[in-house]
Amino acid sequence: TPHPVGPDELGPDHVDLSISARVLADKLPAGFVVGAATSSYQVEGAVHADGRGPSVWDTWLRDRSVTVDRSTADDAVDHYRRMPQDVALMGELGLDAYRFSVAWPRIFPDGGSRPNRRGLDFYHRLLDELEQHGLAPMLTAFHWDTPQHLEDDGGWMSRDTALRFADYAAVLGREYGERVRWWCTINEPATVAGNGYGSELHAPARNAGVGALRAAHHLLLGHGLSVQALRAEGVRGAIGMSNVHSPAEPANPDSVLDRAAAEVIETATNRLFADPVLLGTYPTAVHAAARVAGLKIRDGDLETISQPLDFYGLNYYMPTLVAAGSGDDGPLPASLVLPSGGDAEGGRSPLHIVEWPDVRRTAYGWPVVPDHLGVMLARMRDRYPDLPPVYITEGGASFDESPGPDPETGVVQVHDTRRAEYLGDHLTAALDAVGPGGHAEGVDLRGYFVWTLMDNWEWAAGYRQTFGLVHVDRATMARTPKASYHWLRKVLQHRRRQE
Ligand code: NOJ
Repeated sequence: TPHPVGPDELGPDHVDLSISARVLADKLPAGFVVGAATSSYQVEGAVHADGRGPSVWDTWLRDRSVTVDRSTADDAVDHYRRMPQDVALMGELGLDAYRFSVAWPRIFPDGGSRPNRRGLDFYHRLLDELEQHGLAPMLTAFHWDTPQHLEDDGGWMSRDTALRFADYAAVLGREYGERVRWWCTINEPATVAGNGYGSELHAPARNAGVGALRAAHHLLLGHGLSVQALRAEGVRGAIGMSNVHSPAEPANPDSVLDRAAAEVIETATNRLFADPVLLGTYPTAVHAAARVAGLKIRDGDLETISQPLDFYGLNYYMPTLVAAGSGDDGPLPASLVLPSGGDAEGGRSPLHIVEWPDVRRTAYGWPVVPDHLGVMLARMRDRYPDLPPVYITEGGASFDESPGPDPETGVVQVHDTRRAEYLGDHLTAALDAVGPGGHAEGVDLRGYFVWTLMDNWEWAAGYRQTFGLVHVDRATMARTPKASYHWLRKVLQHRRRQE
């Protein structure tokens, strides 16, 4: 295995950032957690190792044309085998914590009721390594890799999957209950329901339109049941979940129609998934859509879904700008609450997502708007009176960049100044917003997890969208820390010096 470039060989001093490492270090409150995040399917590879069964993604990827680069995640970035090296990189970086997910199909590969010991052992080894490097674990139980055998029985469209998920969570609780600092039940149910069931952007590509509301409800129910299961197992760590929030804004704030359109998107994306968890209610529009979707919300479901949480995880990447009127937008998130499936008669969409003006964009084309992280936190505080402590469980940016030798030193490096800037600007915006006099003052923000530790398999975008602090050469699987890694290391070093 090629040794990664030593952090001291390439200081980020030449990196010209609007926010210096020292200024940011000064802003970090005592105890604020800085971590990195990954997910099992995006990094592990080794899809046949140690008795793992297929997930819905393995099945979907048999048709290679579903990813932009015709890739699969069979090898991903070989984390399953290189895990100790990857954890060591985080240790050298000086992170406080690591958020990873357990691959459900490693634990329950087939329809059997006994967990697969070899699958469980991998995560024990990971927890051992984390412990050795002083990294606190956040374990996500479900980050989209549903076992195929469950999908064969209906997947998340079926209520039974929520019960099976709780059984699986109980096994994780029993197994790792003493070792995990934070439990995150489900990651981004909105994306699973919208992309995987509502449309065909992701596996299992059910394209069910508003019918996907059933998947949404069962994911949320699975969350609530798994919280109960983890509590029943007496796990030591804090329990929460991760929802993606993209605050919606009207393109023209003076237009009543645009404001209404933004409200619809806010409801169909953020509130649909946060209200039941944090308020124990669905937005009114959801009840009408549920009838169209053939979803029965049973008595007691909302109580189950709204179990008290120890923390709430927010994934923030960007805001969404919305306009009323027609547009050729493809599947809209609103398809989950608009009985028409987001499409009015004649194929005209009643609302559409428009480009955020005058901002930088990531390689995905996502607008870079750090201030809206603060806007989102303020909205959370205002809407949810019992908002528990918050962690930003994901934030980051994809940019194209490749390693090259430094003209002066010849040392191989990756100049991802834009990523360091993205992270610095977002951390600053969040900390300023929740700080004294900030517009989100009162939110108990406890930490930020960078998406992602290393370049990996970005779902339908294959290996094309790279978000990593560490570059991965897919041919050799060599890891090279980028300038953003060195910058963040500096931030954490400054902080430590002050303590
Ligand atoms: C959110 C998802 O949780 C993660 O899997 C994905 O890679 C990032 N967003 C970036 O798209």
